[in-house]
Amino acid sequence: MSDRGRVAVFVGAGKPFELREYPLPDPGPGEILVRIRQANICGSDVHLWRGEMERMGRFPPTVLGHEATGVVVKLGRGAEVDSYGAPLREGDRLVWAYYVPCGQCPACLRGDVHACATSLVTVHRPCELAPHFVGGFGDYYVIRPQQARFRAPNELSDEELAGANCALAQVLFGFKRVELRWGESVVIQGAGGLGLYAVAVAKELGANPIIVVDASSHRLRFAQLLGADATILLDEHPDPRERTAEVQRLTGGWGANVVVEVAGVPDPYPEGIRMLGRGGRYLALGSIVPGKTFAADPSLLIGPNRTIFGVSLYPPGSLLEAVLFLQRRRNHYPFHQIAAQAFPLEEIDNAFATAAAASAGKGVYTRVGIRPEGAEPRL
Ligand SMILES: NC(=O)c1ccc[n+]([C@@H]2O[C@H](COP(=O)([O-])OP(=O)(O)OC[C@H]3O[C@@H](n4cnc5c(N)ncnc54)[C@H](O)[C@@H]3O)[C@@H](O)[C@H]2O)c1
Ligand SMILES: [Zn+2]
Ligand SMILES: [Zn+2]
Repeated sequence: MSDRGRVAVFVGAGKPFELREYPLPDPGPGEILVRIRQANICGSDVHLWRGEMERMGRFPPTVLGHEATGVVVKLGRGAEVDSYGAPLREGDRLVWAYYVPCGQCPACLRGDVHACATSLVTVHRPCELAPHFVGGFGDYYVIRPQQARFRAPNELSDEELAGANCALAQVLFGFKRVELRWGESVVIQGAGGLGLYAVAVAKELGANPIIVVDASSHRLRFAQLLGADATILLDEHPDPRERTAEVQRLTGGWGANVVVEVAGVPDPYPEGIRMLGRGGRYLALGSIVPGKTFAADPSLLIGPNRTIFGVSLYPPGSLLEAVLFLQRRRNHYPFHQIAAQAFPLEEIDNAFATAAAASAGKGVYTRVGIRPEGAEPRL
């Protein structure tokens, strides 16, 4: 094994990534050095790459990529078991939560670590400082002591496992927050990585019908493979009132029990709220960019008793559930195809351009992955 590894450094929006090499660090107490097998480009990476998150402050040169899987290269002292108590050895496959809760803020103290005041701030660290391997888009990554980590079963492929964190864990937790019940109707706005996993999770939870809205006919076809009962293509129904009427029709005139926004923009909020029936719950997961707004009519919430749930991150148990979900249901859903389109690390600029086009409803990719050990883009 070489004693150095590459990372693709994000030096700012609109600039190409810089491939840099650093010496491999010796993992400290509680840390694990992993070799990345696949890291996916999440919609959040695309927001960062486009420079849409700069209102939150400029990022130092850093390594993006938080949706990844890898194998153990070296365990630090005290890291011999995972967060569930399973023993770890060199070569074991791992997934890990990408954020670090502080453990001291009011949210952490009451057990809501996903709502920690600082956990998101901990994601992007400067890569010039040790341990350098601070994001998934590199050959290696160092898991920090406070990051939840779970050993994954060998039967799951890299493509299947890579989406466990963040996409699958995120939607599993989102549906838990809105308490989706068996037989309830669900609309999913956006059929990217989060939206596609949301279809499978909603199906497993007994949702009926599951209606998916997107700009890409390719992604909508994929949503059908995962169990969507009906799809609405934006181009075919360009007027939001038409889309709302279609949801009314598909839900027997009652409106949806749950609408999930995983489109990444605020545009679908007004129609999404109107798609809800009385007592309906709106799950706001996707539109994370500060300053992007929508016009709100509070009476649409109050009169019909509708509620909006904003959900960011997930507690570590959701990641464990995600792995179990993939393991138990892999023969029922084509999970292996969601992120089967992978680029080698040196083609990361191309990979991001592809992911950004798909995120804007263009292209035939569902989730773009990066495999440092090399891969041909596959369809
Ligand atoms: N809350 C969280 O903690 C969390 C976690 C992960 C991702 N996210 C966010 O979730 C969003 C979705 O992530 P992704 O990786 O699936 O993104 P993606 O870019 O792959 O998918 C977004 C999809 O939404 C569709 N879309 C765009 N406008 C639409 C509209 N008006 N109506 C319906 N569909 C529309 C696009 O065609 C695209 O297919 C991103 O914005 C990401 O930042 C949030
Ligand atoms: Zn993500
Ligand atoms: Zn905290």
